[in-house]
Amino acid sequence: MRKKTNWIDRDLAHVWHPCTQMKDHENFPPIEISSAKGSYLHSSNGAQIIDGISSWWCKSLGHRHPAIARAIKRQMKFFEHIIPAGTTQRPLVELSERLCSLMPGFDKVFYSDSGSSAVEVAAKMSLQFHAQTSTPEKKLLASLQNGYHGETTLALSLGDCELYSRPFSKILHRTIKLGPLPYLDSKASPLWEKIPDEDWLKVERTLDTNKPRLAAIFFEPIVQGAAGMLVYSMNFLQRLSEWAGKNNVLLVADEIMTGFHRTGPALACMHAGIVPDIVCLSKGLSAGWGAMSAVLVKRKIFNAFYDDHPTGKAFLHSSTYAGNALCAAAAIEALKIYEEERIGEMVSERECELRGAMEKTGRSTAALRNIRGIGFIAAADIVNPKTGSPFPKDARAGFMFYQNALRGGAFLRSLGDTIYFMPPLNSAPATIRKLAKIAAKALEETVRKLSS
Ligand SMILES: Cc1ncc(COP(=O)(O)O)c(C=O)c1O
Repeated sequence: MRKKTNWIDRDLAHVWHPCTQMKDHENFPPIEISSAKGSYLHSSNGAQIIDGISSWWCKSLGHRHPAIARAIKRQMKFFEHIIPAGTTQRPLVELSERLCSLMPGFDKVFYSDSGSSAVEVAAKMSLQFHAQTSTPEKKLLASLQNGYHGETTLALSLGDCELYSRPFSKILHRTIKLGPLPYLDSKASPLWEKIPDEDWLKVERTLDTNKPRLAAIFFEPIVQGAAGMLVYSMNFLQRLSEWAGKNNVLLVADEIMTGFHRTGPALACMHAGIVPDIVCLSKGLSAGWGAMSAVLVKRKIFNAFYDDHPTGKAFLHSSTYAGNALCAAAAIEALKIYEEERIGEMVSERECELRGAMEKTGRSTAALRNIRGIGFIAAADIVNPKTGSPFPKDARAGFMFYQNALRGGAFLRSLGDTIYFMPPLNSAPATIRKLAKIAAKALEETVRKLSS
């Protein structure tokens, strides 16, 4: 007789889920997904659930895209993974060529296996770059207030989300935090084109103070994801880029969330017309088909590491699965789809539709404020409709909303009490409308319960 399977019990016996207080699962167990297609997850009890946050922002083209599945199958006929040092392979070469053409000025790609590790690579590269050029005194890294760059220790040190870094505060590296940032609700804000000089001057003062020792500035261009989908002015980036260029400080764009058309253009830096020195990519790179990240660099950086072996200048960072062939095959196909299906233009054209869905949710519940967004990202903060103020933190309004939405058929994991829509970029209009309906109902249930 076949063993009866209760996957949830077996899961809870052995699986420790990421970014989760596991005790929450006593009352709200993980949902068992048996398959997924396009913008939908299918649960084992027959529910169809919209993947409203693209599985942590990576399933840019939805689940099981047939062309990507075919590309992986084709690659499997040859090999799935080989040591990435001392060998080469067609998928990696083709992918690197394509990535270098994303923006002018890039001609080398260094691969790793997650967003966090790409940030580690970029940080180590920036420090070693200065150590090996004529500026060894440049040993400090800076980043933006409210930034998020991943979970490894250097990445956590560059981030500014206490929620994730607090337990490790004693061992994190000192980094300079720049801000406050000129936040806005959309590109239509007058601040988008030009921020007041006095706002920039505060940041510039911090930069000037640290200039002699500053090696690099890390930033999530245009949208800070984990801090709550905070959109800021492209003019801020232009000024940051201008300052960095004049002061021999490297600019490192963390495009891990924003890359590959999430905000419209292929890279969010393009909104500001800036070209950073280093770009970190992941998530949409393989369209969420595998663990892959890439660090694009300009030649001047590569050149600082290129010398005879005894100089010890090589960049000796390694990760076993760097440049995995199946991921590379998926990424090449994803890049073709972004281009052939005009995903970037489509996102720009449909930006209003997603934002409209969030606005509708806000209007029908009066329980949202600070509606904001760009591209295929729309976010807002939950408030008590009676007072217009947030609920107390320990009421966990966002978590309650997430549970209600899931029961209603949408996976909308919140960021604290910030809710956001970030479905696959090719989601059908009907899916967006459905998402708004489910969110409104879930929000109504949430505020009713919390206000009673
Ligand atoms: C901007 C940014 N940087 C870095 C990371 C870390 O990526 P990973 O979770 O793949 O390590 C994330 C993840 O959400 C991110 O949004």
